[in-house]
Amino acid sequence: MSTKDQKEPARVNQSWGGRFSEQTDAFVEAFTASVEFDQRMYKQDIEGSRVHARMLNKVVVLSDDDLSAILKGLDQVEQEIAAGEFEWSVASEDVHMNIEARLTEIIGDAGKRLHTGRSRNDQVATDIRLYLREQTGYVISEAKRLQQGLLALAEKEADTIMPGFTHLQVAQPVTFGHHMLAWFEMIARDVSRYEDCRERMNMCPLGAAALAGTSYPIDRDFTAEELGFSAPTANSLDAVSDRDFAIEFCSASAMLMTHLSRMSEELVIWSSAQFNFIDLPDRFCTGSSIMPQKKNPDVPELVRGKTGRVNGNLVSLLTLMKSQPLAYNKDNQEDKEPLFDTLDTVLGSLRAFADMVPAIECRRANMYAAAKQGFSTATDLADYLVRKGLPFRDAHEVVGSAVAVALEKELDLSELSLEELQGFSTMISEDVFEVLTLEGSVAARNHIGGTAPAQVRRAVAEASKRI
Ligand code: ARG
Repeated sequence: MSTKDQKEPARVNQSWGGRFSEQTDAFVEAFTASVEFDQRMYKQDIEGSRVHARMLNKVVVLSDDDLSAILKGLDQVEQEIAAGEFEWSVASEDVHMNIEARLTEIIGDAGKRLHTGRSRNDQVATDIRLYLREQTGYVISEAKRLQQGLLALAEKEADTIMPGFTHLQVAQPVTFGHHMLAWFEMIARDVSRYEDCRERMNMCPLGAAALAGTSYPIDRDFTAEELGFSAPTANSLDAVSDRDFAIEFCSASAMLMTHLSRMSEELVIWSSAQFNFIDLPDRFCTGSSIMPQKKNPDVPELVRGKTGRVNGNLVSLLTLMKSQPLAYNKDNQEDKEPLFDTLDTVLGSLRAFADMVPAIECRRANMYAAAKQGFSTATDLADYLVRKGLPFRDAHEVVGSAVAVALEKELDLSELSLEELQGFSTMISEDVFEVLTLEGSVAARNHIGGTAPAQVRRAVAEASKRI
């Protein structure tokens, strides 16, 4: 409450109530409050305040006594919050004012001096960056744990042959290890997107104050450095208003979830009775309350489903930012829920995947049998004819006729007799059967990025160095 003479009202917000003549409507108070969801940034808010106070003291705006009272008080507030003893109040609107109000309650006037040369606008812009910077680190570690699991599985299944698909039709044989390495590469790019995003967000807005900077002789380099930022933000209007770093995080997350949803889809298909390529351990599945035989791949299904909310959150933030004039607008308070929801969803999904992937059991015989169907070595036969001198287009034609006949006889190409095969081309001889085997087919693709078991092992070794 301001000290100036007031008849009315009995209670207005003590942080900004000075010019107000009536109390905030109770509904409006609750409607405009963010404390329910921004309290998760309390550690960052307190750390920002510590550094801000030390900076003010360094430039002789805050006395030594005030500084030590503030630092002591902030420690106590932090302990109270950590212990669950802190009483969050909607009347104090947000995490920043709740903490400051409690600090002032504990240490008196010194608490009221903390906000010198600062605004909630640069404060919140700082807190979100600090919070997201830390959380991005957790996302990256979980993603790397998943990458490690994928590499282990790729190594273990480097020789395991399965059908490779295009259009979900059997195309050419590949190794399961090779398939896992494809997933690995997707996640590797996601990690680099998060790393880039973290680098760009790591600028310190403190000192931008409300929008124009402050008239105190502040030392922004000190604040930025103490908080582990790479530099102070270059423009105060931009610093308090843009949430592009949060949008970027949500965009990287939408991409990651899109990747996880593709993996999920394959796990769901592969664990179906019709494919029966893999077994997902029971601990990642659930049953049905009515059908006793069921074992449902809930974890991948749920991750696939959660992609929706993460995509939605990205659109929310883009729409929130669109057309906002400089500088800070209250709209920006709406950045937190989509951002936090994305963060929680991504962390949970990565954790589930990182735990589950190393436990995937391949049903190798079923994969092998499936690869034998669908004429997956037809291209190998064409390549064989090309090596014998036939132009590729003609070879394609020859193999097409052979496939038509084999289809009619319900046989694989490798099950046709040499005489039958020679009926399609006199260039075919006994050595054709080596190329018609699945092993021969995958082993032949022995180049960088190819599916040959030897290449998979080489790629695993290379990739291990990258994480
Ligand atoms: N709770 C607010 C937010 O999250 C803090 C900044 C409020 N600033 C203001 N001028 N009302 O954006």
